[in-house]
Amino acid sequence: MQKLLVIGSVNMDVVSNVKQFPLPGETIHSSDMKFVPGGKGANQAVAAARAGAPCVMIGAVGLDPFGDTLIASLSEKGVDAKSVLRKEGTSGIALITVSEEGENNIILSAGANGQITEEDLASVVQWDGACAVLLQNEIPWETTLAALRSAKEKGVRAFLNPAPARALPEELFSLLDTLIVNETEAAVVTGVKVVDVETAETAADWALAKGASSVIVTLGEQGCFYASAQGARAAVSAFRVQPVDTTAAGDTFIGAYAAASADGLATEEALVFAAAAAALAVTRHGAQSSIPDKAEIEAFLASR
Ligand code: RIB
Repeated sequence: MQKLLVIGSVNMDVVSNVKQFPLPGETIHSSDMKFVPGGKGANQAVAAARAGAPCVMIGAVGLDPFGDTLIASLSEKGVDAKSVLRKEGTSGIALITVSEEGENNIILSAGANGQITEEDLASVVQWDGACAVLLQNEIPWETTLAALRSAKEKGVRAFLNPAPARALPEELFSLLDTLIVNETEAAVVTGVKVVDVETAETAADWALAKGASSVIVTLGEQGCFYASAQGARAAVSAFRVQPVDTTAAGDTFIGAYAAASADGLATEEALVFAAAAAALAVTRHGAQSSIPDKAEIEAFLASR
């Protein structure tokens, strides 16, 4: 299998579990507090590697002790972390509050993620032998754009998950093999309020008309919708599970989908595989700590 590249963020998640989210001005007690490796880029890399794809992470951590832990976590989970740079200052930090319903709030401090430049990419990214690159929106936007342009030049498929959500310039859509958005991101990117499969299709059509080759809209408990410029359409249901923490569910879906596609699975099969990976992730706590491996995903699918 050809390798996947992930160019994106690496964070230390500081996770507090609470009964319910605090109101403005309110102080509440947390029932538990943990430090868990996270970051949308690193989570997607871990999900891809655990799902069986050779995967290289390109990003940056600080010179602080969190940086050592974050690099070690990536390596332990099978990601090639040799291209994760060390930058002056602190690593990215995500302050995460998880409610009893498993929902979360996240506040990001970019730290080293905010220092990744186009020049850094030129010095570490090895495009040869890569089939796809996964990008998100937690490193400087100019760097992500430069990566998208390079991927196009090199003939490497680009998957973009613009999270946290941002509007995208028109010229960007033609650089994308796959745009992956949840309901919130779809609304910001396409202007369509996505609430179900039908509205997901409208949002996907909007992005296809702008030049994306394919679009996946994830819909939480309602599954996901896929559409391609060649006219393929698929709606895949979510697996019913009892969620304890939805952190990194989207990242797990994306990494597992990219790994399954790189392994040659047909699109609909890859979407079902990704949905199973995400279902398992929401039944576990934390970001990288919740991401299942290929054997777990296959066993889950076989049990359904
Ligand atoms: O998508 C979940 C991730 O978002 C967390 O791991 C956190 O680091 C933020 O980047």
